[in-house]
Amino acid sequence: MDSHVGEVDIFQQCKYIHEVELVNMKLQMRILETHIETKDRLLRNLEDIIDEQESRIANMEDFIQVLSLDFGTLSEENLRLKSALSQMQKVARVNEILETDEDYESDMTSNEDRFALRSVSPQPTGDVIKPYPQMVQSMREEGQWKKLQRCAEELKNEKDELRRLAVDTKDAFNVCMAEMNMLLTSKTTDFFRVLIERYKAEMEKRKQLHNQLVELNGNIRVFYRIRPQLASESDNQKPVVVIDEMDNGVVHVSNTSGSRKTSAGADKVIPTDFSQEQIFNEVSPIITSCIDGYNVCIFAYGHTGSGKTYTMDGPVELPGINQRAIMQLFETAKERTGDIKYDIKVAMMEIYNEKIRDLLNTSNTNLTIRQTEEGKGSIPGLEEVTVSSAQEVTETLARGRKNKAVAATEANIESSRSHVIVRVLVSATNLITKVTTVGRLNLVDLAGSERVSQTNATGQLLKEAQAINKSLSELGNVVLALRQNQKHIPFRNCQLTRILEDSLNGDSKTLVIVHLSPDSKSLNESISSVNFAEKIGQVFTKSGTMKRDPARRSMTGVSSGQRREIPPSPRK
Ligand SMILES: Nc1ncnc2c1ncn2[C@@H]1O[C@H](COP(=O)(O)OP(=O)(O)O)[C@@H](O)[C@H]1O
Ligand SMILES: [Mg+2]
Repeated sequence: MDSHVGEVDIFQQCKYIHEVELVNMKLQMRILETHIETKDRLLRNLEDIIDEQESRIANMEDFIQVLSLDFGTLSEENLRLKSALSQMQKVARVNEILETDEDYESDMTSNEDRFALRSVSPQPTGDVIKPYPQMVQSMREEGQWKKLQRCAEELKNEKDELRRLAVDTKDAFNVCMAEMNMLLTSKTTDFFRVLIERYKAEMEKRKQLHNQLVELNGNIRVFYRIRPQLASESDNQKPVVVIDEMDNGVVHVSNTSGSRKTSAGADKVIPTDFSQEQIFNEVSPIITSCIDGYNVCIFAYGHTGSGKTYTMDGPVELPGINQRAIMQLFETAKERTGDIKYDIKVAMMEIYNEKIRDLLNTSNTNLTIRQTEEGKGSIPGLEEVTVSSAQEVTETLARGRKNKAVAATEANIESSRSHVIVRVLVSATNLITKVTTVGRLNLVDLAGSERVSQTNATGQLLKEAQAINKSLSELGNVVLALRQNQKHIPFRNCQLTRILEDSLNGDSKTLVIVHLSPDSKSLNESISSVNFAEKIGQVFTKSGTMKRDPARRSMTGVSSGQRREIPPSPRK
């Protein structure tokens, strides 16, 4: 028998480890996918660069071809000129010789000498070749000599000009090539710089968009708080609700045999050993925003015995969020005194069977909600007590607590079957402009979320159960609709959401702390609470797809939720 239990245990552990591994693998998959997407984008960018470079190179090649053609033309021209030049040189040479001959002839003194020279000169063969002097003579006579000299002169000039042109063209080509190189290098660098800047800008834009999405969805936060096992439960087996060892943003809820099981994530999971002060530190930033005129709602959700009242009200020696929140508002108001005068009022009410009872004035047993100039959800006649010291806060809260207990006993009802709202009104009046802004802080200890078996319930119990079920599910619908930015938010369907209409709407901030008990007897309730948290904790994108947002981890500074398989709700 023992060994069988041991095997079951080992089997459970293995299953649990596999579960954790699965979450890790999914996370790794996601990271890898993101890497691949980034790489793909970079690759596409690089391909674009390569295309651009290739087209530049093609342009360069065209340009070089044009230049080569020019060069070809120039070379041909040069060749022609060269041959013309050599022709001219020949002519010039002839000219030179003839001039020399002339001198020589004039130097000769005797006719004999002249004759001798003429006699040694080659004899004409037919008409073609004449002796030099004769040839020169005939050229002079024909007037061609001067023409040839001029022609030679012109050609020489032309040749010099062309030579200069060729040198200039070569220089120009070199300069052009250097410039092109420089241009290409600088253009490429520019191109890369622009590309990197664009990439950075895109990343920045993406981050901003992402933050906007988180902002849009993120005015509503969901936390889990797991209370410790009580002395009366300590002989129980291991806790049925545990925080994931690898990811402290995920909770696992499973019975001891592992047959019923779910895992879920939230913006934050408050561990069992967190003190009242530590949990308050987690919520204090949104409370402070009340001073700046924001409306804030904090809900404690969970089945009876899961620790809601402990979190909100707390034992006298370890006060909960209610007292600490009001004290903090005092502190912050004090720090800011100067041009602004703060006025802090506290009201306390209870909703039972859709009736609103004033907990600071016992004669107000059935208050009504009105739409007044002050806003929707105002309750005329509700006692509002101005508090200005820590003692007044403690006393006021204690009075409300006592009145609640007395009323519950008188009406013979379980105290956890009503919603308790502590409403703090913070008015800030600017002494110069005389403008007053009001921030509302609603601290709500909800009725137990456990479902009373409706088949056995009759009379008051049935009515009570129906009222609680309806109001909790309406609260879920409202939060969900707000999160989805729906046009119509179903505030009107129950007193709880009607009272809080103004405080939940607009740019108000909402925190739902879902309480879980590690006790195995509460397993079904815990699974039901996790389902509620999952429902209201969804993040919606524009496309209408629903997902848990991995970035919530960074936003809240703790682990995000990973949606995993969740069995259907235990009850209808
Ligand atoms: N964080 C906690 N640390 C110690 N004890 C707790 C804690 N949360 C709840 N408890 C105890 O558990 C019991 C049920 O808590 P309670 O706040 O009354 O639950 P609920 O209001 O949800 O019905 C109480 O005895 C309470 O003192
Ligand atoms: Mg309670």
